Amino acid sequence: MLKAHKNESDGWSPQSWREKEALQLPYYADLDALAAVAQALEASPPLVSAADTRRLKELVAKAAKGEAFLLQAGDCAESFAEFHPDNVRATFDTLAQMAKIIAKETGKPVVLNGRIAGQFAKPRSDSNETQGGVTLPSYKGDIINGLGFTPGSRRPEAERMLRAYRQCAVTLNLLRGFAAETETEFFTAHEALLLPYEEPLVRRDPATGAWHASSAHFLWAGNRTCAPDGAHVAFLRGVANPVGVKCGPEMTPETLLRLLDVLAPANDAGRVTLIARMGRGRIAAALPPLVRAARSDGRIVAWVCDPMHGNTKRAASGLKTRAVADILAETQSFLSILAAESAVAGGLHLELSGRDVTECTGGAITEADLPKRYLTHCDPRLNAAQGLSLARAVAEALR
Ligand code: PEP
Ligand code: CO
Repeated sequence: MLKAHKNESDGWSPQSWREKEALQLPYYADLDALAAVAQALEASPPLVSAADTRRLKELVAKAAKGEAFLLQAGDCAESFAEFHPDNVRATFDTLAQMAKIIAKETGKPVVLNGRIAGQFAKPRSDSNETQGGVTLPSYKGDIINGLGFTPGSRRPEAERMLRAYRQCAVTLNLLRGFAAETETEFFTAHEALLLPYEEPLVRRDPATGAWHASSAHFLWAGNRTCAPDGAHVAFLRGVANPVGVKCGPEMTPETLLRLLDVLAPANDAGRVTLIARMGRGRIAAALPPLVRAARSDGRIVAWVCDPMHGNTKRAASGLKTRAVADILAETQSFLSILAAESAVAGGLHLELSGRDVTECTGGAITEADLPKRYLTHCDPRLNAAQGLSLARAVAEALR
């Protein structure tokens, strides 16, 4: 375990989140294995550099001012089974093409921030799942347990963190190669859900001495883990990375301002991205009060639209799906609301695969097509064609 640094003026240390209420974390029965994994991660190289993380913060600051557009996208949940260089390539290429479309129409640089190389751990509404009278822990992502509905598969195992770490390292290596080929900058982001994984990957920035999370350039708190006094926000508070917060329809202006006090006491540009995930039907009522609160209080934030998570529904077959029409409608509402509030629409946050998956309806895909290539381990993703058509529509609306 990292030693507590008593010299931290505000008492933060990589493990101080442990004093707070931590929602959504798995229960590890084998504490010796958990400690061994933490030690191994602590001894492992950082996955991203502090210098690159500082660079992304500068770019997010530009997005907050309307001088750049932040494109965050990737799987809902990365998995061990879907890992293949061709899949990483496909997602990279799709994002790069979307960026090109948006940059061309808007004349602004697009900052690519993949939901990749770390997006493994999932919050779940129900901690258990029942099938045919049998109840087991819910699947929480491959870094925690397995998707198969058996007691062995669903048992949280700490060693999965090491496998995930190695997959992240290989994925980053591929992404760096692709980015160098295309002369693109590419950053990575994920939800900082699994704090026992994030904690041992905290490092000091050799240039500034500040703590930074080395698991990714950008980390966010999810809609279920963004309580201002909860463990996840307590963790994010102390790392210098640019951070995000998912803002759902239940968030109040008071809570938002408290969160900003905790996460960005210095109100430094690029530090906080607010990711609105309201749902097509709720955004018109839910978003304006939040935008107004942040703006009238002088908070520097990048507003980003996640038009995916408020628009999930069940198809008749029982599969979780989303309609491209709803995703586009929420995005368009987001853009008009930000404009009406004289605020900046800073970017988009999508769940997307570069593969030809059939998980969301729209374009060539109807509900009947969903089972054909429904590969997601969690929420339904746009496929490459759907992502590109959304990029064209957004680029047009932004222009
Ligand atoms: C997600 O991004 O996959 C997610 C769980 O989102 P949210 O926290 O907004 O529900
Ligand atoms: Co999701």
